[in-house]
Amino acid sequence: MKKQNIAIVGLGYVGLPLAIECSRRGHRVIGIDQDQGKVHDLHRQRSYINEVDDKAIEALMNESFTVTDQCEEAKQATVIILCVPTPLASTGTPNLCYVQTALKQLAPHLQQGQLLILESSTFPGTTEEIVVPLIEREGFLIGKTFFVGYSPERIDPGNKQFHLTDVPKVISGMTSECLQRVKDVYETIFKELVPVSSTRVAEAVKMFENTQRFINLSFVNEMARACYELEINVEEVLLTAETKPYGSSAYRPGPGVGGHCIPVDPLYFKWKVNQVGATTRFIDLAKAVNDEQPDYIVKRIRSLIHSVEEAAILLIGLSYKKNTRDTRESKSIGVAERLIQAGFTIAYHDPFVPVYTLCDQAYQSITIAEDTLAVFDLVVLLTDHDDLDYNKVVQHSKCIFDTKQCLSVEGPHIHKL
Ligand SMILES: NC(=O)c1ccc[n+]([C@@H]2O[C@H](COP(=O)([O-])OP(=O)(O)OC[C@H]3O[C@@H](n4cnc5c(N)ncnc54)[C@H](O)[C@@H]3O)[C@@H](O)[C@H]2O)c1
Repeated sequence: MKKQNIAIVGLGYVGLPLAIECSRRGHRVIGIDQDQGKVHDLHRQRSYINEVDDKAIEALMNESFTVTDQCEEAKQATVIILCVPTPLASTGTPNLCYVQTALKQLAPHLQQGQLLILESSTFPGTTEEIVVPLIEREGFLIGKTFFVGYSPERIDPGNKQFHLTDVPKVISGMTSECLQRVKDVYETIFKELVPVSSTRVAEAVKMFENTQRFINLSFVNEMARACYELEINVEEVLLTAETKPYGSSAYRPGPGVGGHCIPVDPLYFKWKVNQVGATTRFIDLAKAVNDEQPDYIVKRIRSLIHSVEEAAILLIGLSYKKNTRDTRESKSIGVAERLIQAGFTIAYHDPFVPVYTLCDQAYQSITIAEDTLAVFDLVVLLTDHDDLDYNKVVQHSKCIFDTKQCLSVEGPHIHKL
């Protein structure tokens, strides 16, 4: 297949790695992001995502790659891939404003024969009901003069085991011709394609993947609470259960499920399902358990502290998962804010999050040194970053609450979730 001009709209955790892969496969890439800071960083060959190093950006900028904040540039593309955020509104319902705004900005520049692929995670029906009408408004005939597909991104930032292009790629199209065109492009980038019968199926696949993870993670947090009450070591239970060679998956407890996907996508799905009058009881329950988890962590912290006024607490890890700077929906932040509101004096350490505003107050990540650890009455491990000196934490902290099973050692001053 001849090399394509691929415009990638949204150069974040999903779009930037995809842009790199497209470029590595010899396609000409037009990276478009409305965030001028990101555009500026890319022009200076600097990465703003810790999963992507500066060298990859350097290589990218040396090849046929341009980066801009102007959607207009997409008119030169043969393929447009949308990787914009799909967050929740304050009401907990889908907020598709990024998808809609990007499409409205692109609309006047769309060209006959182009293929547009939505990669953002969203509820079944989005491509058909929201994306397609905006394109048809420009006078195009889907499957004839313009082509539309949906392909959910399955990237797991920070996962060194599975490279983006090794993960089978689910693809779909509004018509068979649309699907064929998605296939033609993505087979040059991904090792294995998984075509499905409709965009609604592909959207539902993504919803299922993340919802089952959300439900299981919420259940494992409930299991941890139950085991604590029963004075059973939950870690031993989980590790032993995983020795069963079939029907068992590894899930670990923690301060609650965070990130832009796992706690968000189930609510996209719930909204759509509830719209047609059906129930989503598992999702509702998992959400309730997940929402309670920071309160539960604070309750356990209180049980380890004698006096709120005198206690100083060090929180380790603000990002929602290890080895990333992404703090979206992070439950560590929920824990931190609850502690501040309750009157505790807190500090935090996170090598990936140098500064953060908590309860309208700016905090800076402190360095972990032997004497600083000793100052705190309690050290709470909230994110299991790889490059932390856990030995130092164990040796020099007065009391530790490990919510992420970071520590393999036991001790009278170590308390686990
Ligand atoms: N982060 C993940 O691990 C992950 C994994 C799988 C799927 N997803 C899904 O992929 C989508 C993108 O997530 P992300 O984590 O990459 O988000 P992100 O916030 O890291 O990146 C999105 C980018 O889109 C840009 N943007 C927004 N509106 C724009 C517009 N109108 N024009 C140009 N640029 C625009 C933003 O500036 C931002 O840089 C979401 O739907 C998410 O659910 C994310």
